[in-house]
Amino acid sequence: MGKDTSYLLSGASRGVGLDMVKLLLSEHEGIVIGGARNPDKYEELQELKKKYKDRFHILKLDISDSKSVQASAKEVEKLLPDGLDYLFNNAGTSEDIEPPSDTPDDQLTQVMQTNAIVYKASKAAVNMVTLVISNDKREEGWTVISVHPGIASTDMGNRPQEYGEEFKPECTPEESAKGLLKVIHSLTPKDTGSFRTFKGDSLPW
Ligand SMILES: NC(=O)c1ccc[n+]([C@@H]2O[C@H](COP(=O)([O-])OP(=O)(O)OC[C@H]3O[C@@H](n4cnc5c(N)ncnc54)[C@H](OP(=O)(O)O)[C@@H]3O)[C@@H](O)[C@H]2O)c1
Repeated sequence: MGKDTSYLLSGASRGVGLDMVKLLLSEHEGIVIGGARNPDKYEELQELKKKYKDRFHILKLDISDSKSVQASAKEVEKLLPDGLDYLFNNAGTSEDIEPPSDTPDDQLTQVMQTNAIVYKASKAAVNMVTLVISNDKREEGWTVISVHPGIASTDMGNRPQEYGEEFKPECTPEESAKGLLKVIHSLTPKDTGSFRTFKGDSLPW
């Protein structure tokens, strides 16, 4: 992992994504691109941009908007003409999700577009997408995995507590980010298609 290694993270405005950006900038070398749908709203991102202006780029990216995704891809191509090393598809939402039968259609669609369906089912769908892409891209040498960041004490991780004790956060977003970076930096192509926790353990599909 050297100064030419490049990283793109979606959902870099807060939570685990923001902590990963901070760790990558402070403890690693390399080029970091942080995707956020409303970057101007987040002072911490702007401060990081000032501090690491040569190797931190902010991308205005809403992953539920195909135009935004396409425009972002073009911008990344310009920034990284030799290609991207690590893509961390971190953005996700679980906001105010009631059981599907009680949730208005437009809200379900929004969650579907961001995560891929209602939260738990959406994460299962994301895992299936991981398997499909890992198979499709195996020959090209891509390593594609799903990771469980732990129940981290972010806006999202703190919210499900109301649903029961078992959802108590088990780590801070920084601990989660540290673990996730260790996991992704340890990967080799033979790990493609696997599912890991932020502690590096394998999870059964
Ligand atoms: N925290 C946990 O306990 C936990 C457990 C299991 C899995 N996860 C997964 O880990 C990832 C990070 O979670 P977190 O706890 O850091 O969540 P978080 O604190 O709620 O942050 C979510 C991030 O995703 C961004 N985002 C949401 N919808 C987006 C969209 N359409 N386009 C672009 N960005 C969007 C948010 O941006 P805005 O600031 O613009 O809203 C924010 O940066 C998520 O995929 C989540 O599902 C978390």
